[in-house]
Formats: sequence, structure tokens, C-alpha cells
Amino acid sequence: MKKHVLVTGGAGYIGSHACKRLFEDGYQPVIYDNLSTGHDWAVKWGPLVLGDLLEKEILESVFNDYQPVAVLHFAACGLVEESVRDPEKYIRNNIDGSKVLIDVIKAKKCPVMVFSSSCTLYGNVEQSVLDESLPVQPINPYGETKLAVENILAEERQAGGLNSIALRYFNAAGADPEGEIGEDHDPETHLIPRVISAALGQLPEVKIFGDDYPTEDGSCVRDYIHVSDLAVAHVTAMEKLITGELPPAINLGAGIGSSVKDVVACVKKISGRDFPVKIGPRRDGDPAALVADTALAQKELSWSSQYSDLETVVGTAWQWHQNQNA
Ligand code: UFG
Repeated sequence: MKKHVLVTGGAGYIGSHACKRLFEDGYQPVIYDNLSTGHDWAVKWGPLVLGDLLEKEILESVFNDYQPVAVLHFAACGLVEESVRDPEKYIRNNIDGSKVLIDVIKAKKCPVMVFSSSCTLYGNVEQSVLDESLPVQPINPYGETKLAVENILAEERQAGGLNSIALRYFNAAGADPEGEIGEDHDPETHLIPRVISAALGQLPEVKIFGDDYPTEDGSCVRDYIHVSDLAVAHVTAMEKLITGELPPAINLGAGIGSSVKDVVACVKKISGRDFPVKIGPRRDGDPAALVADTALAQKELSWSSQYSDLETVVGTAWQWHQNQNA
């Protein structure tokens, strides 16, 4: 019989790609999602249990029914701006929800958890290439909630109760190369889907948030990591934790910096379409450049990105959005 893996937030963007990968690698994902931002059409590789992290009894029954060998924990609110407006929501869903989940995991003696963390933990840093030894100093409530859960997991590891890792993603992007699933947020705030929407005529223009940053072309630089590469890293980390130990946190990025202007040019090239681009003011809280040092991921997970060159990231996203539009 296939081993069950519980995937919280498995109907969401990154969670659904992880479910596909788990299934391909011989596991049976069990999706736990309240569908607040996830989609039932993204649940294709295992049963969906509709529930919230705060609903302890439903969570307990999932563990009783499926006895998962590990938990991949994606379910969370993930918008920086919203977290500034409504920090309570982020404390409730991201911290309190994770605490309930961790309590149930321990009570049911499930030994392994892989946690979705974020490079936003590093805050406003001087250097642009970031490794895991940097101090963590988040500058928004969203980042604070990710740090709080990392700290709880560190305590649990020390107490010997739960073997876990926090995977700190840079900018998740792209879509399943086979076109089965992709990104669908409402509202959509992320750069690549917004630029693609402009190419599809769904947005009148692209606004570049600032072109006076100390970067080569003046626009912000980010490390766009393909969502299918993230999925592979999760399954690898889970398997390593089942049989051994990993460091408490590992960065997941491509190690490639692309500017906002690079992304706009790449979408124009791949789509073959032109659209208006305007320069707007800087967006609050945006660091100039964030690129992952990927050495630890390579060493500990024997992992490196396969799909994360900008053309593949944008190309798979373009295919997905074009198909959705058709
Ligand atoms: N940008 C624009 N125009 C837009 C949208 C975005 O110029 O219409 C710029 C942003 O200013 C930023 C870059 O494009 O410089 C990327 O912005 P995204 O909103 O796509 O991504 P962020 O880097 O802000 O956020 C991502 C994740 C968050 C995470 C954060 C950590 O989506 O979950 O990285 O820094 F917290």
C-alpha cells in the first residue's frame, strides 16, 4: 500500500505541485485545505479533507484515518500587505493554526514535518545573495509569523519530539510543465502573473514599482524559483527527514537574480505581444535585491533547480495562463 503524506494547503499553488510530485514518487497525498485561497480543481492526486488548521477534531480524524508518515505544511496566509493591515488574521491562521497542527502531529506520533518558510525572514539586508547563517529579522507581520513557527519547530526538535525542516523559498513562480496546474490567486499581486495578464489584455498596463534601486537597471532583483523545483525539494527533504537529520532551515532559490525589467522583457519575448509599461513609485518594504545562496540546498538535499531559468519559468506560466484564458 502507498504511504500517506498529509499536505496542508494542498489545494493551493505550491501545495498542489507538491501533491503531484508526491504522487509521481509513489506516495499518496492527502490534501487538507479550507479552500479559502486554494481550489478544488487543483486537487487531482489524492482525497481532499475540507478543514481548517484550527479545527483540531477534523485534523485528529485525518491522522486516525490515514496515519500519514509525514506532513508537508503549506497552509498559511501569504500576503505581506494584508498582514500589515490585519496582523491578527496572520497570527490566528499562521501561528495558532500551526500550533494546533504540531500538537496533533505529536499526539499522533507522526515523526516528520516539512514547513513552508520564506526568505522574507531575512528582512532588509545589506547584501543581495543570502545564506542561512544571516540573522533573521522580518520586517512585516507575515514574516514574523513564519519566524514564530520556525522557532516552535526548533524547540520541538531540541525536545526530540518532531523532526522538521523549514524551507525558505525565494519567489515561487511558473507552472507545471505538463500544464495540469498553475498559479491562480485572487487578488493577484505577484509580478509574473500580473505581467502575463497585461500581455493577455486583462490588465491595461504593467507598473514597475521603482526604477531607482541600486541594481543594474534600477528595478528590483528577485530569485524566481520554479514551483516544480520547489515540489522536488519538498519530497527530497521529507525523505531525508524520515531516515535522518537535516539542518533546521534551508534556502530554496535558483541562485539567479532577475530584475523586474528582465521579467517584462521575457514576457514580451515569449508571448510575442507588446503592452504598456509605466514606472511607478517604489512599493513599501521592497528590498532592492534578494537572491538565494543555494550551497546548503545542494549539499544537504543534493538538489538544484531544473526549471528555474527565467525563460522556462515565464514560458510555463504563460502556457498555463493562456490555456486558462482560452
Ligand atoms: N512588482 C512590480 N509590479 C507589480 C508587481 C510586483 O514592479 O505589478 C515588483 C515588486 O516591487 C518586487 C518584484 O516585482 O520588486 C516581485 O514582487 P512580487 O510581489 O511578485 O514578490 P515579492 O518579492 O514581493 O514577494 C515574494 C513572495 C512573498 C514573500 C516575499 C519575500 O510572494 O510571499 O517574496 O520577500 F514574502
